[in-house]
Amino acid sequence: AFGKYTVKAPTNIALIKYWGKSNEDINLPLNSSISLTVDIEQFFTQTTIELNDEKNQLILNNEPAEITGRISRVINMLKSLTKPENLEKKIKIESCNNFPTAAGMASSASGLAALTFGLAKAYKVNISMEELSGIARLGSGSASRSFFGGIVEWSAGDSHEKSIARQLYENSHWDELRLLVILTDLEKKKISSTNAMKLNRKMLLERANERVPIRIENLKKALEAKDFENLAKITMEESDDLHYVIEAANVKYLNAKSEEIKKLIHGFNSQGIRAAYTFDAGPNPFILTRKQDINDLVSHLLISLKLRSHNDLKLHGQLPNDPF
Ligand code: DP6
Repeated sequence: AFGKYTVKAPTNIALIKYWGKSNEDINLPLNSSISLTVDIEQFFTQTTIELNDEKNQLILNNEPAEITGRISRVINMLKSLTKPENLEKKIKIESCNNFPTAAGMASSASGLAALTFGLAKAYKVNISMEELSGIARLGSGSASRSFFGGIVEWSAGDSHEKSIARQLYENSHWDELRLLVILTDLEKKKISSTNAMKLNRKMLLERANERVPIRIENLKKALEAKDFENLAKITMEESDDLHYVIEAANVKYLNAKSEEIKKLIHGFNSQGIRAAYTFDAGPNPFILTRKQDINDLVSHLLISLKLRSHNDLKLHGQLPNDPF
C-alpha cells in the first residue's frame, strides 16, 4: 500500500556563490546565489524511499550511514505536512551518487534535493517546487537550487518561507551555453563547506554585503542580454573572490591542477573572452563556454593538459530544463 518511490536529482554549479549563513539552524544564507543546473545524466543522485514497519535506515552509496541532523530536519518538516497515518511508518532511504561524493562536486546539493523530493512523494505532500526548495535548504543550502533546470536563483530571504529558489531562465533562453567539468581530484575534501563557511566572519560579511549584490545585478543583465563576455568575467571574478575569502581563513580547496587550468583559460581568452572557470569548495573546475567555441576549447585543454582523450573531460551538452 505504501510502495517505493525512486527519484533522481541533478547537481548545480553556482555562478554567484552561497558562502556564509545568517541562521545556521535553517540555513538562511548571507547572500542570494545563482546557479546553472548540471545535465542530469552526468551528475545526479538517485534516491529510493520506502515507508515500512521495520526501522529508520539510510544506505548511502551501498553502505549503511547515519541519519544526520540535516537529514532529520528535512524528514521532520515533511512529517509535519503529511497525513497522521504515515507518521507511524519507518523510513528506508537508499541513495547513490553517480559521481565522487564530497569532492566539491556538490553531492549535498543533488543528495538533499533527491531526498526532499522522494520523501515528499512517499508522504504524498503536494506543494510547489519553490516550497520544496525551501525544505531541501534545511538539509543543505545549495540543494535548494537543484529543483529547476536552466538558470536558478536562490533568494536569501529573511525567513524560512522567503528563502527559496526559483528558475530565472530555461536553457532555451541561451541554448549555445555549454558546461565542461574536469575531474582533477577525486579525494574527499578535508573540511566541509558547512564548517569552512563559519570561518572569517568579517570578510564573509563584506563579501556578501558589498561585492556580491553588485555582481548579482550585473550577472542578471549579462544573462538577459546573452552577453557572454560579461557572464564570463563576473563568473571568474566571483570564483576568485570566494577562494580569496576561503584562503584568507587558511583553507585551500584548489590544487596545482586547478591553478594550471585557471591560467589555461586566461590564455585561451587572450584574443577575446570565450570561456570562464568556476570552482565550488573543491579543486574540480566547471568551465562555461559557447557551442561555437567548444571544439577549440577542448583541443586547447587536451593539448595543454596532455590528456589522452575526451574521456578525461566530462563534456555537457545542453543543460536540462526540467530535472524532475
Ligand atoms: C561553495 O550547500 O554544501 O558550493 O548549507 O552547510 O550544506 P550547507 O552548505 P553547502 O555549501 C555550498 C557552498 C558552495 C557554493 C554554492 O554552491 O553556492
